[in-house]
Amino acid sequence: MKLIVVKDYEEMSLKASLIIKELLMRKKDATLGLATGSSPIGIYQNLIKYYQNKEISFKDVKTYNLDEYCELPRSHPESYYSFMHRNLFSSIDILEENVHIPCSEGSDLQALCKEYNDLLHQADIDLQLLGIGANGHIGFNEPNTPFTQETWVVKLTEKTRLDNQRFFNSLDEVPTHAMTMGIKNIMQAKCLLLVASGKNKALAIKRLASGEVSEECPATILNNHPNAIVIVDEEAASLIK
Ligand code: F6R
Repeated sequence: MKLIVVKDYEEMSLKASLIIKELLMRKKDATLGLATGSSPIGIYQNLIKYYQNKEISFKDVKTYNLDEYCELPRSHPESYYSFMHRNLFSSIDILEENVHIPCSEGSDLQALCKEYNDLLHQADIDLQLLGIGANGHIGFNEPNTPFTQETWVVKLTEKTRLDNQRFFNSLDEVPTHAMTMGIKNIMQAKCLLLVASGKNKALAIKRLASGEVSEECPATILNNHPNAIVIVDEEAASLIK
């Protein structure tokens, strides 16, 4: 695992977006695994700029998102479907048929999980972008998720619901479940690119940087990946000795 410490969110976003730009310049039909949340927003803003400057195109790019809330219609402003369109897809030339986001609207969630998992088996993701939860989660794989887990429906921990409350009017409105790629799916990407900023990520980053590999802190699985890059700002790195 390659750990890069940078000054702040802006520099983290720049470094990560240059890695993605370089991939898209080299491989115009690359397949990207994408994340939502606060961490990738700066990266997406940079990618939009590169697209506008005609440095890259997404015409032949395919994307697969990590996760989606259950119980929220795709049209809800806080669904990850809406998030991705608002923050990236509506500003680039990606084809809607090349965008894949777990669909968790419907009565048979198990069938929807299997459908997304089957898609992932054929996806051959070149680079998977990841954020990290304060408790070390990746995707919505909370602590003690088996590393062998594939796409599944997760009951969100109260900590994660509280962390995400800022996007909703009240805690009651935060969904209780989400559909997420499992850790096994995430590990199948050729390259993992994890970004983290801010003090509240410092403990999880300390565990990741220690070389530990433990289901108690899901992100530590990156230590077993042959091509994992972790870019963190000074605050997120503040507990690394
Ligand atoms: C989002 C996701 C989550 C977030 C994590 C960090 O698709 O899978 O694991 O990456 O919760 O969220 P932020 O970036 O908002 O701190």
